Amino acid sequence: MLIEAHEISRVYGVESASVAALRPTTLSIAAGEFVAILGPSGSGKSTLMNIIGLLDRPSTGTFHLNGRNCAGLTDDQAAELRNKLIGFVFQSYHLLPRQSVLQNVELPLIYAGVRRAERRERAVKALAAVRMSHRVDHLPSQLSGGEQQRAAIARSIVTSPSLILADEPTGALDSATGWEIMRLLIALNRTGRTIVLVTHDSKIAQLASRIVTLRDGDVVSDEMVVSLQPDATAQNQRQRDEAA
Ligand SMILES: Nc1ncnc2c1ncn2[C@@H]1O[C@H](COP(=O)(O)OP(=O)(O)OP(=O)(O)O)[C@@H](O)[C@H]1O
Ligand SMILES: [Mg+2]
Repeated sequence: MLIEAHEISRVYGVESASVAALRPTTLSIAAGEFVAILGPSGSGKSTLMNIIGLLDRPSTGTFHLNGRNCAGLTDDQAAELRNKLIGFVFQSYHLLPRQSVLQNVELPLIYAGVRRAERRERAVKALAAVRMSHRVDHLPSQLSGGEQQRAAIARSIVTSPSLILADEPTGALDSATGWEIMRLLIALNRTGRTIVLVTHDSKIAQLASRIVTLRDGDVVSDEMVVSLQPDATAQNQRQRDEAA
């Protein structure tokens, strides 16, 4: 299993002011899956995502990523594992405003200690993969929202991570542009990358192959869209094909 969470929970704050953002949750995600985490605002989606992405630690329970128990990791070790294994995509892109698109995409490779020429080459390739070759020298502010998200996706894949975590990647985009971003994620999943996508939009979630639904910090359903629902399979496949 790529991701194995056993009875993980997350409580923010203390005593009377505490919030149970995530109640004890057991969840496994295998390599190659495309999982949507679906739920309304405040249901704990980002809380779960942050634990999966080693940006936060559970209050209780155990979490294994790629076979490794993450409880004992120092912050530096967590950062190193994160850089090696995970690409992040956020609703608000998180591009550095004074750096060009190319420089933004190269950034994770600087942290990874990749030398300059190879950095350039890999960033150019990642940008080509998201059809952004014509915008490499632009600043983020000179791009549309969809283009900024494509640049952010290029940045997330430039280290060749096996896992991509996307928290509401279509949340700031109009629906046509949102579908375009979903097409890119589906294509990345077809090249073998595991995708975990957070969304509050059930139409977007339907494009995944599995939907984990959260409500008030609890997993209220966990369904394989493709393999367990024969009737839904054809429709889901059609939607995915149309989108791709
Ligand atoms: N740092 C924090 N301190 C205190 N409470 C928090 C913190 N982060 C989240 N919460 C609370 O935990 C609950 C779950 O938050 P979370 O951000 O995981 O929800 P979400 O499903 O991602 O919502 P949204 O769709 O609005 O992003 C909410 O009630 C929220 O107020
Ligand atoms: Mg959130």
